Amino acid sequence: MTARHRLVRVPASSANLGPGYDAMAAAVSLYLDLEVEETGEFSLDPGGLDVSTGRENLVVRAFESLHSADGIAFRLRSEIPLARGLGSSAAAIVAGLFAADHLFELALTREEMLVRASELEGHPDNVAAAIYGGFVVCGAGEGGAPLAARFDPPDGLEGIVVIPPEEVSTKLAREAIPAEIPLADAVANVSSAALLVLGLRSADLDLVSRGLADAIHQPRRRGLYPRSMEIVDAAGELGALGATISGAGPTVLAWTTWQEAGNVAAALEERCAGWAEVRRLPFTPQGADVPEL
Ligand code: HSE
Repeated sequence: MTARHRLVRVPASSANLGPGYDAMAAAVSLYLDLEVEETGEFSLDPGGLDVSTGRENLVVRAFESLHSADGIAFRLRSEIPLARGLGSSAAAIVAGLFAADHLFELALTREEMLVRASELEGHPDNVAAAIYGGFVVCGAGEGGAPLAARFDPPDGLEGIVVIPPEEVSTKLAREAIPAEIPLADAVANVSSAALLVLGLRSADLDLVSRGLADAIHQPRRRGLYPRSMEIVDAAGELGALGATISGAGPTVLAWTTWQEAGNVAAALEERCAGWAEVRRLPFTPQGADVPEL
């Protein structure tokens, strides 16, 4: 019998997008590649990443939620920095699920993948963007199960990320958000999120700019990433449409037009010199994929 062998490619993601805490995200063009092969012996090559190489590795845990990893060799290659707010854990979970699904022809739908991946991740936003690509708005379906609506990135919109060297623990960041928030903050975010989606769907970048404001998570997490918040606050002066903290941070996503992207990137590089890495990172419509080998 020919040994089965698959490659899975999953994009990074930026969650929250300002007002959409735990509800909105976008896929961005940095990738995790996972190869799985039936060799008869379990092994995991982390590709230089500082992650566990045993069964407790997140990729393997996700894989084993669908099928035993006995006899399977895993080979990871990832461009997504760990613990910076670019969805590295979501990409790992989605890669493990897609790998098991394709290797053993389980034929799960993307909707079923989203339910399983959200359970493993604890929230649906990053995993939804990693699965579907593009922009996603997450909600709850029957019995509270997560579901997501996706749409393509609008033409002309560009993302630039500022990636600080510091890591932020998502657990700590989530603990910084109280269970209840003032009504005024909730109203402000409902308004921003609606403007943002209207702007993205109609490619009206003025509306996008007005829709990036957040009154829920960024102000309450400011102490975890003070330098990142200075960049968010200065984004307009630096020529961007605005900026948001990517997921739980500390990465900043600066939003701009393709015409302005070069200037904004240069201004960010000058501002962040000696501290953070600045890179242009296009939004991508492509979600998790299993390309031919
Ligand atoms: N929505 C999540 C948060 C994303 O901000 O905590 C983190 O992965």
